[in-house]
Amino acid sequence: MNDLLPSRKTQIPGPKSRALSRQLRRYESRNITFVSGHWPIFWQRASGANVWDVDGNRYIDLTAAFGVASVGHNNARVVAALKAQAGKLVHAMGDVHPNELKLQLARELVGLTFRRWCSRASAKRGSALHRSAATTSPARVIFANSGAEAVEVALKTAVIHTKRPGVIAFEGAYHGLTYGALDTTWRAHFRSPFSEQLGHFTAHVPFGRVPNVANIGDFGAVIVEPIQGRGGIVVPPDDFLPKLRQFCDDHGLVLIVDEIYSGFCRTGRWFACEHWGVTPDVVCVGKAMAGGFPISACIGRAEVMDSWPESQGEAIHTSTFLGNPLGCAAALASIREMKRMKLDKRSQELGKWLATRLAKIGKVRGKGLMLGLEVGNAVPLVEKLLQGGILVLPEGDHNEILGLTPPLVITKRQLEYCVAELNELLSPR
Ligand SMILES: Cc1ncc(COP(=O)(O)O)c(C=O)c1O
Repeated sequence: MNDLLPSRKTQIPGPKSRALSRQLRRYESRNITFVSGHWPIFWQRASGANVWDVDGNRYIDLTAAFGVASVGHNNARVVAALKAQAGKLVHAMGDVHPNELKLQLARELVGLTFRRWCSRASAKRGSALHRSAATTSPARVIFANSGAEAVEVALKTAVIHTKRPGVIAFEGAYHGLTYGALDTTWRAHFRSPFSEQLGHFTAHVPFGRVPNVANIGDFGAVIVEPIQGRGGIVVPPDDFLPKLRQFCDDHGLVLIVDEIYSGFCRTGRWFACEHWGVTPDVVCVGKAMAGGFPISACIGRAEVMDSWPESQGEAIHTSTFLGNPLGCAAALASIREMKRMKLDKRSQELGKWLATRLAKIGKVRGKGLMLGLEVGNAVPLVEKLLQGGILVLPEGDHNEILGLTPPLVITKRQLEYCVAELNELLSPR
């Protein structure tokens, strides 16, 4: 495992990054990559928690590149699985003539989610349910390519199941930017240019409280992040998710838990909803699942998912790259790495240790290695840290939080270095 600290810096961004930025401005839509005199650097390679740019500068990545590189950037076993699969089959016919890896990954995802959750619940209640869950699958999977697409699938699943179109989502929520998902995402910055094309099927209510909505009969689903990510690493009160589960049961609503950011060991558990012992009806996963390869999934309780009609030869929801063999191979390897390195425990222990250190600098929130430091305005700090060789991102509606979501394989020495830099920048002089 790499345990390297940042290299001594000259000028950041260096001359090669600056030249590439100037060219990019000519070819890419101006809305996409933010370019200024201080931003961005162009990445060339990465390993573990380290990133190198095109000018040869080395960084410590405290973002895991949007929470993706949990098993470490360019994890050797994930790369080997990708190379081996690329030599055999890059693409199959996902919903027509699939590749076996799609089956293997679907089985693995059901095992990690509903099978584990069911067997825990039934172990508490007695063994009958436990036995039946072991022989029949308690859940079904639909694959997708991005987080937002997995959310689209969850929203479609809920309306197919309940026939009620309304969705309850939360203030501060981020579920992606495709039109269905965007309707449930909170921030006006993302929504307002497209407001007239949105479905407006969502009611947003305050995060952390049980919803109080009129016309509850119009609603078929609640979608929630167990810990809000882009909304600013917001951990709800401990009674929130259990009460929300009860609320959904009382009103016949499908509980969709969006674990795209918080899933796969990020918060110190395999999935964040486990902190509160809550089992959703549908769970969305993506980001860290395949160590950097774009693949996502919607996994749902069998009874809910089986509201989808049997395919008669033309699926009513699918996509060209569904269950792509490279994505499945990368995900299977990545999940094996999470188990081998016990990243749930590692995230929990390192997260606790880091939170204690950060608490001496400012107010800290989050769980495991999904942490946020309250800093007022994170933007200038993010630029200064880049100069010091540390990659971080602002989070929160007003960029008031410094998000700290490093690869889960980051070392204590690397974290110590980052804490010392943060202390230097944030301590009053
Ligand atoms: C909780 C959550 N849901 C959904 C998404 C959307 O995922 P993607 O950007 O892969 O579409 C994100 C992305 O940050 C997220 O954090």
